[in-house]
Amino acid sequence: MSGFVDLHCHWIAGIDDGVRTPDEGVDLLGRLRAAGFDLVVATPHMRPGMFDNDRKALELAFAAMCPRLVGRDDLPDVHLSSEHFLDDVVFGRLVKGQGLPYPDLGAAADPSGASPDVAPAHGAARRTRGVLVELSPQGFPPNLQRRFFDLGRAGLRPVLAHPERYQPVWKDDACLDPLLDAGACLLLDVCALVGKYGRASRKAAEKLLEEEAYEAACSDAHRPADADVVIEAIEALEKRVGAAETTRLLRGGPRGILGL
Ligand SMILES: [Fe+2]
Repeated sequence: MSGFVDLHCHWIAGIDDGVRTPDEGVDLLGRLRAAGFDLVVATPHMRPGMFDNDRKALELAFAAMCPRLVGRDDLPDVHLSSEHFLDDVVFGRLVKGQGLPYPDLGAAADPSGASPDVAPAHGAARRTRGVLVELSPQGFPPNLQRRFFDLGRAGLRPVLAHPERYQPVWKDDACLDPLLDAGACLLLDVCALVGKYGRASRKAAEKLLEEEAYEAACSDAHRPADADVVIEAIEALEKRVGAAETTRLLRGGPRGILGL
């Protein structure tokens, strides 16, 4: 298979818990390309106190990796975004336009000319951009739905990373309903399906798949060897939901989040 789009991957070296060297980053990208991904978005962590990255630091790290990728037909296309840990600091950055949402790759083709970075002309619809957010696995903050609404008002659609890993979801996935009502969408880490994060995450992922709750699936790969797990996990996904739904989760869904 090919044409997959990976919205969550840690292939930029030395900036979080992802790959440790640029060579490893290129190796990971090559392996994901071989697994069927034509486009891989870098999503290094922005998490104060653990990975103290701001937008500028991530843009510099991305730019430092790019020359290694030029002219390599064996590698996927790449873009830059970030995995935003939704604490007070990062939430504040996002609503002030200081985060790194997903690129809107359809904006140039939009006949209205509407861009999320430019105030729309009177009467023109504003295009929203997806933004990858992660939460603490132990529990959701009480003001989470309001924060998601606030992100929506700032032109951002929350894309919730690996919902299957959150303990409240293990107990009752109805806890996601207020977030979906606030416009969020759910991004499956496909490796949950082969037990990479334990039995509870696997069960939660299977249930959310059954409910057709996911908008898209991703690798969340951190090391070159993770690509082998991704291949195994995509096979497990296809076995569970069939080829058409697998294609939707790895191609149509993520392309839609990128405005394509
Ligand atoms: Fe991640």
